Amino acid sequence: MIQGELFDGASGGASGGAVSGGSSGGGERPARSEPAPGAVLLPGWLDLDAQRRLLAACREWARPPAGLHEVRMPTGGMMSVRMVSLGLHWYPYGYRPLAEDGTPVKPFPPELGALARRAVAEAYGDGPAGLDGLDGIAGAASYEPDVAIVNHYAHGAKMGLHQDRDERADAPVVSFSLGDACVFRLGNTETRTRPWTDLELRGGDVLVFGGPARYAYHGVVRTLAGTADEALGLVGRLNVTVRESGFGLRG
Ligand code: SIN
Ligand code: MN
Repeated sequence: MIQGELFDGASGGASGGAVSGGSSGGGERPARSEPAPGAVLLPGWLDLDAQRRLLAACREWARPPAGLHEVRMPTGGMMSVRMVSLGLHWYPYGYRPLAEDGTPVKPFPPELGALARRAVAEAYGDGPAGLDGLDGIAGAASYEPDVAIVNHYAHGAKMGLHQDRDERADAPVVSFSLGDACVFRLGNTETRTRPWTDLELRGGDVLVFGGPARYAYHGVVRTLAGTADEALGLVGRLNVTVRESGFGLRG
């Protein structure tokens, strides 16, 4: 059993399974905000049951072969997050069919695609100010995600400012957060420098960035240790980004 490897969850015993779920619950937090044009934050969009299902699925995806691994940057240093890819294996900076250990990457689960499609519909469907709803955001109306990257942030891990530009499609990226909260820096599309907005992403939050925000620089400045809902049994922070690769995986 390698549960200790899988984010140290005290509850353990994950059996994988469906990742469907999502709710528009969220208690006292605002239902949504738009930190930048094209970027929509849906706080608490995943209720505790949906978070549990996604965590259980992440634990299954993290198992070898093609499981959780460290990432070496072209500069030689190691990233502080550990990753698992689905659909295609992401490496800095590209996608390929074989995972870090040389085995085929795990398939992209259709339930995860359906969950991300619902998030895109909810984020843009009402027509944020200045945009024309789903039709005003590139790739939103026909969103067909086919790849995902799971990042695990142990205490102290972070991610430098970067653009997601290894995909060949400009459809939105959907980001699901579980466990500890983090300070997420949403920058501009031109430079790694200001202006930027720092957002707190908490477990259960969903952030969708598409249209004019699709190529915004972004990163994780720090995680806030110990802020995870203890009921989840996750140590650290998990983030799942769902994307459309544009590599024609769906024929
Ligand atoms: C990423 O940019 O790939 C991950 C962002 C996050 O962890 O919230
Ligand atoms: Mn990114």
